[in-house]
Amino acid sequence: MTKKWSPNSWRNKPICQVPAYPDAQVLAETEKQLGTYPPLVFAGEARKLKKQLAAVAEGQSFLLQGGDCAESFAEHGADNIRDFFRVFLQMAVVLTFAGSQPVVKVGRIAGQFAKPRSSDNETKDGVTLPSYRGDIINGIEFDETARVPDPGRQKMAYRQSAATLNLLRAFAQGGFASLENTHKWMLGFVSDSPQSERYQLVADRITETIDFMRAVGITSETNYSLRETDFYTSHEALLLGYEEALTRVDSTSGDWYATSGHMIWIGDRTRQPDHAHVEYCRGIKNPLGLKCGPSLTPDGLLELIDLLNPENEPGRLTLIARYGSDKVADHLPKLIRAVEKEGRKVVWSCDPMHGNTITLNSYKTRPFDRILQEVETFFEVHRAEGTHPGGIHVEMTGKNVTECTGGARAISAEDLHDRYHTHCDPRLNAEQAIELAFLVSELLKKGRNGVSAQQQVVNL
Ligand code: TRP
Ligand code: MN
Repeated sequence: MTKKWSPNSWRNKPICQVPAYPDAQVLAETEKQLGTYPPLVFAGEARKLKKQLAAVAEGQSFLLQGGDCAESFAEHGADNIRDFFRVFLQMAVVLTFAGSQPVVKVGRIAGQFAKPRSSDNETKDGVTLPSYRGDIINGIEFDETARVPDPGRQKMAYRQSAATLNLLRAFAQGGFASLENTHKWMLGFVSDSPQSERYQLVADRITETIDFMRAVGITSETNYSLRETDFYTSHEALLLGYEEALTRVDSTSGDWYATSGHMIWIGDRTRQPDHAHVEYCRGIKNPLGLKCGPSLTPDGLLELIDLLNPENEPGRLTLIARYGSDKVADHLPKLIRAVEKEGRKVVWSCDPMHGNTITLNSYKTRPFDRILQEVETFFEVHRAEGTHPGGIHVEMTGKNVTECTGGARAISAEDLHDRYHTHCDPRLNAEQAIELAFLVSELLKKGRNGVSAQQQVVNL
């Protein structure tokens, strides 16, 4: 028998990663006010995303999820949003073509503000202050006032999310995201890349396909599906007071939805089955993500699936594996077997970022090779188990930052200081992100034809 749920039932549970707000009353008033603000997304959209994710669970689509580790107030601007979206769409085109499958497009954006931290405090030169927990909670500057959690920031985050989402919707539906545009950008990337030759073949084949479609009368002008795309938002549901304030009953179904974003996920640090974050998420109807790291056992996972997807609805739950390139082969097969044995319908996605973070020259960074290696191993494990490697989840930006080492331009440890702008974890830059999509596309093709990527090139 399941226990009664309400949007605030999480408040009776133990909880991790809570900011120490100095004034509970100000916090309560802010949450009350947020509760009167319009929803950011509509329940019908979350249902549509769930349907598209159900196709991923059935092996018929691929999930691309990506964006900043943490969005920031300082970097909120049209150029950043546009550049991110442009790169993201290029990745999507490459993956769609290679896999001959629809790509479900989900941004880590328009709400990705709160960060879990390994320690409550940070010490620098003998001074100890509360850790930075994301712009929705406190400021990143290492000074006493900035680090005090401020409820007013939740309203800022809400408004920034609304503005970001508004522009993304306009881009997705207004012609900017047409297949022809996206393809043109992609050709620009390919001709500038040091790996140009490797990518040219795929680029040429897409060009031919688009030319052929045009010749038979299928263009963006005649066909809305070439002109528009469905783009969804997602973030970690960490700050539950904010999430609760935006939890609303859908008038068409009578069900509760988180309206802060289309999809929300539970982090690896807050997935205790009897704790607050799982309690909140189990009651809302949105598609959910669950980060799966090394400490999650097969039984622990099944217990969480029972709580989060008791009706075994495909598309409801996406398991996001984040192990590290050297650990994924040890951990993932056990989880897949447990899920398969119990007949649970899930989407398997690979987060190749969070298990591959190292420190170089006192910068947190991630070697591109390890990121790629984790994705490759993820695909291999799924091929061996006969399951669908359903998607990838990456931290990326549309800007030319230097935060992850490697890639076609071989960013070195010495280059990191050049354009290291992240508010939290190191992100793939524009080129590295598209490059990753090309490399994943080779893995997808391999799976589609059952032959190696090398052979593929020969066969073409
Ligand atoms: N509507 C299709 C889709 O979203 C085709 C498409 C239009 C597309 N613009 C795109 C695909 C940009 C990838 C990127 O899949
Ligand atoms: Mn991160």
